[in-house]
Amino acid sequence: MEVVIAPGAELARIAADAVERLLRARPTAVLGLATGSSPLAVYDELARRHTRDGLSFARARAFMLDEYVGLPADHPQRYRNVIETEFASRVDLPPGAVLGPDGLAQDLVAACAAYEHAIADAGGVDLQLLGIGTDGHVAFNEPGSSLASRTRIKTLTRQTREDNARFFDDDVAQVPTHCLTQGLATIMSARHLVLLAQGRGKAEAVHQLVEGPVSALWPATVLQHHPHVTVLVDDAAASRLQLGDYYRETYAAKPAWQGL
Ligand code: GLP
Repeated sequence: MEVVIAPGAELARIAADAVERLLRARPTAVLGLATGSSPLAVYDELARRHTRDGLSFARARAFMLDEYVGLPADHPQRYRNVIETEFASRVDLPPGAVLGPDGLAQDLVAACAAYEHAIADAGGVDLQLLGIGTDGHVAFNEPGSSLASRTRIKTLTRQTREDNARFFDDDVAQVPTHCLTQGLATIMSARHLVLLAQGRGKAEAVHQLVEGPVSALWPATVLQHHPHVTVLVDDAAASRLQLGDYYRETYAAKPAWQGL
């Protein structure tokens, strides 16, 4: 696991570099897209590079991590719409290239299974962007999630619904209670995981993710078992890291050719 501690604006550039490097080497790459605030600056940077440098997503595909159950198709906070607005519509991803779990399906269990098949049929995800919840969830794998879980229905915790109420007029009652989410094993199948976290509110979750014991209580800790994880954090999110100085020294001494 590589931990990079840098100012917020720098983190987005580093993550965008990883995406760009992948796409230039492999234009048909499969990307994993996350919602939440954390990856927004990465999407801004990628959109900028698309417009300015001709970085193309025309042959790429993308899979979303998760989706609320039951939000109307045109709801602006439906994750499919968020990704369309924040990213897909700003680059040249072809129509239909972004898939997500279908939170409006009649048969949600079948929709989850179909989603797993779609990811496998695409050859798996090459680079997965991730955020982390204050309770250590990744995607919507709340504390207690099986470390071997696959895409399935989950009940959101009160804390996650309160955290996300800012997207719903600060009204927690409007935040859906259920979601479909890639499981932890699904996420672990991606070839490179790039997790972004900013702010003091994420400090404990980041400490557990990087340095805590692997436990379903902090679902993100399963990432310690992945061979290629990059954790991009600002000073505030890194403030509880026991080995913070070591991560800083290591990154400062890293040769530029090495990439992430
Ligand atoms: C949300 C999303 C996650 C996201 C996390 C943190 O509920 N389902 O994918 O990583 O919570 O969100 P944010 O980046 O806004 O703090």
